[in-house]
Amino acid sequence: MLVSVLSLKGSPGATTFAVALAARWPGASRALVVEADPSGGDLALRFSLASAPGLVSLAAAARRGGDADLVWHHTQELPGGLQVTAAPPDAEQARAALSALVQHQTSGLGLLRQAAAQPGVVVIVDCGRVDPGSPGLPIARSSDATVLLSRAHADDLAHLPRRLPTVARWSPNPVLLLVGPGYSEAEVARELGVPPLGRVPHDPRGAAVLCGRPATPRWGPSRSALGRFAQKVAGELAARQRPAAPEPPPLQTPVPALHAVPGVPPAAVSRNGVRPAPSAGGQAS
Ligand SMILES: Nc1ncnc2c1ncn2[C@@H]1O[C@H](COP(=O)(O)OP(=O)(O)OP(=O)(O)O)[C@@H](O)[C@H]1O
Ligand SMILES: [Mg+2]
Repeated sequence: MLVSVLSLKGSPGATTFAVALAARWPGASRALVVEADPSGGDLALRFSLASAPGLVSLAAAARRGGDADLVWHHTQELPGGLQVTAAPPDAEQARAALSALVQHQTSGLGLLRQAAAQPGVVVIVDCGRVDPGSPGLPIARSSDATVLLSRAHADDLAHLPRRLPTVARWSPNPVLLLVGPGYSEAEVARELGVPPLGRVPHDPRGAAVLCGRPATPRWGPSRSALGRFAQKVAGELAARQRPAAPEPPPLQTPVPALHAVPGVPPAAVSRNGVRPAPSAGGQAS
């Protein structure tokens, strides 16, 4: 299953929640977090990971094609066993790698989908802050489910009425989670017509563990409030899983070039098939 986690504004804890979801996914034989944040990754710094393998090496390898296994050659392991494909911390490099990865429907994004479609596999993609021009958008659009985190105060919620219908078009399974103090779930449901699935608990200790700052010598998705909530959301998303979505259509349908039109001299036909109007002298220019 391919699940994207995204925010629209601020830093509501998308990366932390992506790691929590993968760590607490029910019954997954293999779970992977792909950090696809065009603003640059955090996981490599948080967990002192090497610069490769990761998103950059995956994007380069995917250009040469491959199969569902390819993705697993571009992961590193967090303490506790979770596999991650980390983005480079530098935003320019992260954006370039992400753009290259999603550019080719079959060799890039298609490989991610293939990996996620294997039995018992869940791939959680942290798309970061997504706007309509974001290079992470094609991943969100081809996910089986999308988790949208929004802070619950008025400033952030004000963006939702405009953006929620767009997110709903991207994903068949959009899930809204509130973060932090502010409006209640009932108020948001009433005002937006979309009931949030819940409110991410404020849990600095649980979040610290998921950010590589272990509270105990042994790292692991502890039984924190955040971990328990992530497990609940993961269970809900897994239960909603639908059959594999068809491949999304190519972003741009190429216009077939016309090289010849019966009965018309080749020089009079442009590449788009438009026949220029005859000039005043009766000659096509
Ligand atoms: N549920 C939580 N309770 C308390 N602190 C949290 C929670 N989730 C995340 N944090 C903390 O908030 C900070 C930002 O979290 P995170 O990096 O996950 O946010 P983000 O939305 O991915 O941000 P960015 O947009 O910069 O990528 C981290 O220090 C993390 O430990
Ligand atoms: Mg993040």
